[in-house]
Amino acid sequence: MNNFVFQNATKIIFGKATENQVGAETAKYSKKVLLHYGGGSIKKSGLYDRVIKSLRDAGVEYIELSGVQPNPRLSLVREGIELCRKNNIEFILAVGGGSVIDSAKAISIGIHYDGDVWDFYAGKAKVEKAIPVGVVLTIPAAGSESSGSSVITNEDGWYKRGVTSVLMRPKFAILNPELTFTLPPYQTACGTADIMAHIMERYFTNVKNVDLTDRLCEATLKTMIKNVPIALKEPENYDARAEIMWAGTIAHNDLLDTGRIGDWASHDIEHEISGIYDIAHGAGLAIVFPAWMKYVYKHDIDRFAQFAVRVWNVDMDFASPERTALEGIERLKGFFRQIGLPVSLRDANIGDDRLEEMADKRTDFGKETIGNFVELNREDVLNILKLAR
Ligand code: NZQ
Ligand code: ZN
Repeated sequence: MNNFVFQNATKIIFGKATENQVGAETAKYSKKVLLHYGGGSIKKSGLYDRVIKSLRDAGVEYIELSGVQPNPRLSLVREGIELCRKNNIEFILAVGGGSVIDSAKAISIGIHYDGDVWDFYAGKAKVEKAIPVGVVLTIPAAGSESSGSSVITNEDGWYKRGVTSVLMRPKFAILNPELTFTLPPYQTACGTADIMAHIMERYFTNVKNVDLTDRLCEATLKTMIKNVPIALKEPENYDARAEIMWAGTIAHNDLLDTGRIGDWASHDIEHEISGIYDIAHGAGLAIVFPAWMKYVYKHDIDRFAQFAVRVWNVDMDFASPERTALEGIERLKGFFRQIGLPVSLRDANIGDDRLEEMADKRTDFGKETIGNFVELNREDVLNILKLAR
C-alpha cells in the first residue's frame, strides 16, 4: 500500500426530505447566493419550490442561473462568473447532477481569477482560490458532490477537459434518494456505468497489497449490480435508490483509492467521445471500458480473474485464468447491455470517421500518453476506439 493523505471535508446530509435543510446549511456561508440548475427537471419534480422555500425561510437571497446542459458548456460558466462578480456573490448552490455541480465549481474558481477560467482546464493555471459551493444532488452518477473535480466542455473545438483541486470539494451535499425517483431509466443506467467506472478505474492498479480497498471496491460494485435492476423495475423503491445514491458518492470521494494509483485511461478516452458527440458520459463509458479491458487484461491476468470471480461470481478456471478474466469482461458488458446502455460506438450511432481525431486530441497528436495501469500512446488509444466500434 502506498502512503496517502485522505481528507474529504464535504458534509453529507443523507435521507428523506433532507432538501428542506438547504436554506439553513446555505445560511452558514452566505445570505446571498447563486442558485444554479439545469434544464428544468427540478421544476417538474417540485424540488425547485422546496429549495426556494427553504432558502427564503432561512433569509437567504438568491440570483438564478439555469440552463446547464449535460456536458456543461464553458460559455455558461463565463456568464455565471460575470453574474456573480456583478452581484457580489460569494456562494453557489448547485441543484442537479454532475453537470450542474461541475458548472458551479467552474464559476467558483473563475470569480477571483484575473485570466480566463479555461486556463485551469487547459493546464495553464493552478486553482488558488474558490468560493464555496453547496449541492442538492438529483442523480447519482458523477460523484461530483464530494469530488474535487470539474469537467467542462469548450465549444471552441469541443474540448472536454477536467481540473482537480481540494479547494473545489463542495462544503455540503444533500442526498435524498427520493429525488431520484423521477430519473428516466436511461439516466439511471448512465449514472450506473459512471459509478461502476469510477470504482473500476481505481480497482485496476499496479500497487500491490491493497486488500482492504480491493474489498471495498468489490463491495461497492456488488451493491450496484444488486440494486440497479431493482431500481429500474421499481423506480420508487427507496431502499434500492438509497444504496445506489450512497454508492455513487463512495465511488468517487477518494476513499476507494487510498494507498493505490488508479488508471483513468477509459475516462480520458470517453471525454473525447462525449466532447464531440455530446452523448451521456456514462453511455460513453459503457462503450469504452469493456474495450479498454480487452486491450489491457494481459498486463495482469490475475487481477482481471479476481475481478471476475469476486465481482461477477465467475467460477475460477485454474487451468486457464485467462478464460476467467475474459468471462468477467463479458459479464460486465452483458450487465451494461441488460440495463439498456450502448456497448459499442455503433450502438450509439457513432461511425468510425473521427477515431483518428479523437486519438490525436487525447494524446496531443502523439506527444502525450494516458493511463497508469497500462500506459497508452496514440496508437493504443486508436486501437481501443477501434475495438469499441
Ligand atoms: O438538466 P435537467 O433538466 O435537470 O435534466 C438532467 C439531465 O438532462 C437529468 N436529471 C438529473 N436529475 C434528474 C434528471 N431528470 C429527472 N429526474 C431527476 N432527478 O439528467 C440529465 C443528466 O444530468 P447530468 O448532470 O449531465 O448527469 P451526470 O450527473 O451524469 O453528470 C455528467 C457530467 O459529469 C461529468 C461528466 O463528464 C459529465 O459532463 N463528470 C464529472 C466528474 C466530477 N466532477 O468529479 C467525474 C465524472 O467522471 C464525470 O466526468
Ligand atoms: Zn465518470
